[in-house]
Amino acid sequence: MKPDSQNVTDYTNSNTIFMVWNFKDNLEIREVFNMLCKLLINLNNSANVRFPVSRASCVMGIGHDAWLRLQLPVPLPKELANFVPIAGGKHTAVSTKGDLHFHIRADNTSICYDMASAISDVLSAVAVSTEEIHGFRYWDSRSILGFVDGTENPQGPDRELFSMIGDDDVVYKGGSYLFVQKYIHNLTGWKELSAEQQEKVIGRYKANDIEMADDIKPANSHIALANVGDELKIVRDNMPFGNMSTNQMGTYFIAYASTFGTVQKMLNNMFIGLPVGNYDRILDFSTPKTGSLYFVPTFNMIDDFLSD
Ligand code: HEM
Repeated sequence: MKPDSQNVTDYTNSNTIFMVWNFKDNLEIREVFNMLCKLLINLNNSANVRFPVSRASCVMGIGHDAWLRLQLPVPLPKELANFVPIAGGKHTAVSTKGDLHFHIRADNTSICYDMASAISDVLSAVAVSTEEIHGFRYWDSRSILGFVDGTENPQGPDRELFSMIGDDDVVYKGGSYLFVQKYIHNLTGWKELSAEQQEKVIGRYKANDIEMADDIKPANSHIALANVGDELKIVRDNMPFGNMSTNQMGTYFIAYASTFGTVQKMLNNMFIGLPVGNYDRILDFSTPKTGSLYFVPTFNMIDDFLSD
């Protein structure tokens, strides 16, 4: 990882809190944002010193409208825009508002809680939290659908290559595009499928996590459509969540990418289909309730924001 980048390349760990915050209207927000930037640096440094084995970190992403309202530098990162919904014949990738996104990770839940609480203490005067999901590692890194999630993620140096902006946008080199969606699953319908039918939805075998051979893998399986080529990868760190009392079982999809175009291509394949109409069968059991794009600045960029 480049030393000044936020922690976008780390491997998945045991506990995560995802938070979306939106600024209130008609308030002066820059002073609080500057305090928040200092807090973000403080929280990450402190966690490294106090709890090195817990791999704790907090990554902040900034949405397009917030970037403008905060009067952050222009021109903007080239692909930073509000996410445009993708409407397929049957399923839609919705777009929802998000000014700031926090991805808090640690092996220890207490650290996640304290980081979220410290952020809330600073932000709540000028912003409201519209989403908070507590994700957890489910067995051997399985999604709540029961399949291992993350196997084909880039490994080693490829994580940096595919998650951080390179020479295409030198001003923002080392930053990342962050795309998130909160999915709610129809687990009742999912459980009515046999294990063999579920495997055809994903394109991998359930127990041993092995990929189906190309002549067996259905064209509408998740991995047939999400795999857009060896040169076009993203770094995912999805986390499952579940609440029995509200019957909300889901996957928080999160991706860091050197270019948003790669994520867009995957979403087009999944929602519109390849060819059109051959949409991703996982969507018959998974509904996105949110969807937003953010830019993750490096710590050097954050320092520059503070001195502006
Ligand atoms: C309903 C939410 C989702 C669930 C439960 C889910 C789950 C999975 C699982 C179980 C795998 C196979 C293991 C692996 O390689 O990680 C996988 C692969 C993958 N998923 Fe998803 N996924 C979801 C949404 C998405 C979305 C929205 C995208 C892209 C925008 C995406 C991109 C990918 C990619 C790129 C792969 C690897 C494909 C390959 O190269 O084999 N996933 N996902």
